[in-house]
Amino acid sequence: MSEQSMPKVFVIGSPISHSKSPLIHNHWIKQKQLLGIYEKIEVLPQNLKSFIRDFAQEGFIGGNVTIPHKEAVLEHVDVIHPTAQRLSAANTLWLEEGKIHADNTDGYGFLANLDQNSPGWDQGSLSKKALILGAGGASRPIIDGLLDRGFDITITNRTAARTESLVDLFHTLGRGERVQMAQWQDRQVHLGDASLLVNTTSLGMTNQPPLEMDLKDLSASCLVTDIVYNPLKTELLLQAEQRGNPTVDGLGMLLHQAVPGFEKWFGTRPVVDNILREIILAA
Ligand code: ATR
Repeated sequence: MSEQSMPKVFVIGSPISHSKSPLIHNHWIKQKQLLGIYEKIEVLPQNLKSFIRDFAQEGFIGGNVTIPHKEAVLEHVDVIHPTAQRLSAANTLWLEEGKIHADNTDGYGFLANLDQNSPGWDQGSLSKKALILGAGGASRPIIDGLLDRGFDITITNRTAARTESLVDLFHTLGRGERVQMAQWQDRQVHLGDASLLVNTTSLGMTNQPPLEMDLKDLSASCLVTDIVYNPLKTELLLQAEQRGNPTVDGLGMLLHQAVPGFEKWFGTRPVVDNILREIILAA
């Protein structure tokens, strides 16, 4: 097959140069000896509509969508799957019988990371209570996924108005009775109750301010996870580890969210393993 007629898959965003998605998908394509190529493409907001309209004619079979297009892309697709509908955001597009389908796999990626790295994390005898730090775009699919797994959720965010609108959103979706808010300055108070602590803020990332969190009141078995994976072991995870709490780093969420898209495009389910982790960590 010539390069021109090979199935092509994209990730679009702006900026896009930092995206690790090509490394993930091209690794799987090679590992499975498939024909195909996954490319990153800078698409400006004013060009989103025409890109989506034309991609199939250009030989693309689908792709990923990242910032700032995750919400806007929904206006241009034919079929919006329920998770993307609930979250008003999609990260994965594929073609089915000539129609463009859109779904959101971020919540799946979050859950699959915990399933892989802390098996049984949602099965214990402890009550299922999650404390979520942050109410930005990254928190939504995580909360949505945790509601699917039967968790009660407490959300806390520096800007209280954002927490309120997130709680309102889940109320509107009929999933609000298990979601409550807490004030940012009170975040420590809720540690004793939590069986899961998730940082969805950018705090603790390289070149960002630290996340100030004293874990002294954390229950001994509380699982701690962070969506920040640069550094891989954030201060939050180090602090939790030192106390003997179970921890899962955030890299796996990035890797696992890619799985459903790859399966849609290439018809074969890829595996998230240490080889892939090492490739991404080395990059
Ligand atoms: P995304 O939508 O990708 O999650 P974002 O909207 O920039 O990104 O959200 C980043 C998160 O980090 C938010 O919860 C933000 O809190 P605010 O809503 O108050 O901005 C949080 N965050 C960023 N810098 C922060 C800081 N210095 N202190 C506390 N929270 C911070």
